[in-house]
Amino acid sequence: MKEIMSYSYDETVSIGYNIGRNLFKGAIVTLEGDLGSGKTVLTRGIAKAFGIEDISSPTFTIFHVYEGKDGILVYHFDIYRIEETELEDIGYEEYFYGDGIVIIEWADKLKRLRPKEYLKVEIQKIDEDVRKILITGVGEKYKSVEDVIEKDEDIGD
Ligand SMILES: Nc1ncnc2c1ncn2[C@@H]1O[C@H](COP(=O)(O)OP(=O)(O)O)[C@@H](O)[C@H]1O
Ligand SMILES: [Mg+2]
Repeated sequence: MKEIMSYSYDETVSIGYNIGRNLFKGAIVTLEGDLGSGKTVLTRGIAKAFGIEDISSPTFTIFHVYEGKDGILVYHFDIYRIEETELEDIGYEEYFYGDGIVIIEWADKLKRLRPKEYLKVEIQKIDEDVRKILITGVGEKYKSVEDVIEKDEDIGD
């Protein structure tokens, strides 16, 4: 497990960017943490690594899909109000196990449908602007991602 502290919104975006640039096609990132902990902010950083700028929370839909550079698709799920049966109804496998990048907010709600391998990110709110971000690679490929994530790389374009 990697533990990274963030002291601002921008730092969390930067940490997300670092995660994003180390992902492979078809990667799944699960995000856990209370309301307002920064899951959507971190998602913004991940998406930025694929050239996607305008991430908004999929509050009234199960997920948003964005097309990033090189045609890579980024699926942004928020399953706070969603039952697993609803995911099955929309054919979640096509998204979870396709070539796109999958980001799932409130992934702690996944039980039966929890993937076997994924990059687990937990965000803890320590103080108004302070977050502790815990990153764990579950499965071989994701362990390698965990290993190469660094905090202090610059955000490139
Ligand atoms: N270090 C930080 N990292 C991320 N967000 C922060 C930080 N400090 C303050 N914030 C604020 O916390 C909120 C996080 O919101 P959001 O990402 O939507 O949370 P979630 O998606 O987990 O419900 C934003 O209003 C953001 O400005
Ligand atoms: Mg959110």
